[in-house]
Amino acid sequence: MILLKLGGSVVTDKSRAFSMREEVVKRLAGEIAEVGGELVIVHGGGSFGHPVATEHRLQEGLASETQLLGIAKTRLAMERLTERIVSILVSKALPAVPIQSSSVFQCRNGRIEKAEIWLVKGLLRLGCIPVLNGDVALDEARGVCILSGDQVLAYLARTLGAERAVVATDVDGLFDRGGRLISRVTRRSAAKVIPYITPSGDATGGMQGKVEELINLAEDGVPSTMVNALVKDRVRNALLGRKVKGTVFEAE
Ligand code: IPE
Repeated sequence: MILLKLGGSVVTDKSRAFSMREEVVKRLAGEIAEVGGELVIVHGGGSFGHPVATEHRLQEGLASETQLLGIAKTRLAMERLTERIVSILVSKALPAVPIQSSSVFQCRNGRIEKAEIWLVKGLLRLGCIPVLNGDVALDEARGVCILSGDQVLAYLARTLGAERAVVATDVDGLFDRGGRLISRVTRRSAAKVIPYITPSGDATGGMQGKVEELINLAEDGVPSTMVNALVKDRVRNALLGRKVKGTVFEAE
């Protein structure tokens, strides 16, 4: 089984609020349809989830009643994005079934503590493609948190025993300080790069958070490949396990 993260920078235009990259998602749906096999998709928030979540400071937890409307608006924004992505997947005859992450995961201090994993397993067993998302989730310590799609991906990959993960972004992969693409990264080499990653201001830690999730996941036995999904066929080839331009996250 393979996990695919469709980053918010791929499915949406992050420079414009609530704008989806319709054409990119259509092409990617076609690439996914060509591959087949057991798959779980997780999509990010991009210009739907992040602006609303940060405006209401939901990543800091619940401190005031004024944030309640922010929870509702973030949830609704993610619901709308999911609906549009899943509609495109279904139009390519993919049995994509949305599962709301906030109904599956319970967090504590921003980390997943419990999951109704049977839902995901059940759909997979039927041959469907579960589609989850980054989300605003309940948090035992903070009230709410912003759960990144990357954490969802890593949690599912571990729990479901995924073979590998493919992480689709809008860049070719991870770059070193000199601007060179790093084709293979481990905990040791990542430690040299992480301090130089520009903070994104997103609700979930941007590229830095992603790298940390993927390194930990690799150490737990699931390697992943980060690819630029804006370039045709990179996602398809990465899903097929072919050598592709990108960054592979591996154990030491
Ligand atoms: C964020 O999910 C979800 C919300 C902001 C509600 P991600 O952190 O996975 O989103 P991207 O991929 O960075 O946009």
